[in-house]
Amino acid sequence: MVRAASSPVTAAELAAYRADGFVVLHDFVDPAACDALRARAAELVDGFDADAHRTVFSTKDQVRKTDDYFLDSGDQIRFFFEEGAFDAGGRLVRPKDQSINKIGHALHDLDPQFDAFSRTPALAALVAALGLDQPQLMQSMYIFKQPFIGGEVRCHQDSTFLHTMPERMVGLWFALEDARVDNGCLWAIPGGHRGGLRSRFIRDGRQTSMETIDPTPWDDTGLVPLEAAKGDLIVLDGLVPHMSYTNRSPASRHAYTLHVVSGAAEYPASNWLQRGTPARGFA
Ligand code: FE2
Repeated sequence: MVRAASSPVTAAELAAYRADGFVVLHDFVDPAACDALRARAAELVDGFDADAHRTVFSTKDQVRKTDDYFLDSGDQIRFFFEEGAFDAGGRLVRPKDQSINKIGHALHDLDPQFDAFSRTPALAALVAALGLDQPQLMQSMYIFKQPFIGGEVRCHQDSTFLHTMPERMVGLWFALEDARVDNGCLWAIPGGHRGGLRSRFIRDGRQTSMETIDPTPWDDTGLVPLEAAKGDLIVLDGLVPHMSYTNRSPASRHAYTLHVVSGAAEYPASNWLQRGTPARGFA
């Protein structure tokens, strides 16, 4: 049974979300809808000219690797490669569809199928139950987590990359395939959302920089795995520290993420993600 708008989340799940900063909502979406979204992503990749743009996405050196193609992707559908996707001669090491790290960042506005997946009564009811008022769907990403070549995503808070004043952001992470420890599931630090934001990724025109607010390193010993089955939805407070290790299995681990901010909070111009058209809600 998938979740209906009348009961998107239980009281126990809400309590867990408030305590931990995350919760796994089992059986939120129909597995068939996950398959349809995967098929649509495959079509989009098929239509992408891999010779046109060669931007690699890496969380290890994000300031240096941020380019115009990334900076202008806030209201576009663009494709970013895995680290190690290219050899020294600039040729793809593996087939194109196994080399893309992610597609971002306005799938939910520009592609009818992603729009339909992202704007459902159940999701609107869930976000309302989480207490996020005037929701705005600011960003979407299709994340491939490729087998063999993908890098790890280091421990971070999503609000580092999408900050509002005050911090009012929720990440919705849909497992389009089973995500387990062996194929690079999410890990998070329970309760880590209560310590405040530790850094901000700042944009100034065409330049970006990382501003440190609190230099305390994350306590990796507190990380717990968030395994999810296809169709499960992981809800993440924008402030909860999370990460994923390299996928060393032969299995892909596709996920779709939506980041929703509150329109009641200020969205500063120092966010990297700036849109030509305003973000919309679930309607
Ligand atoms: Fe994240």
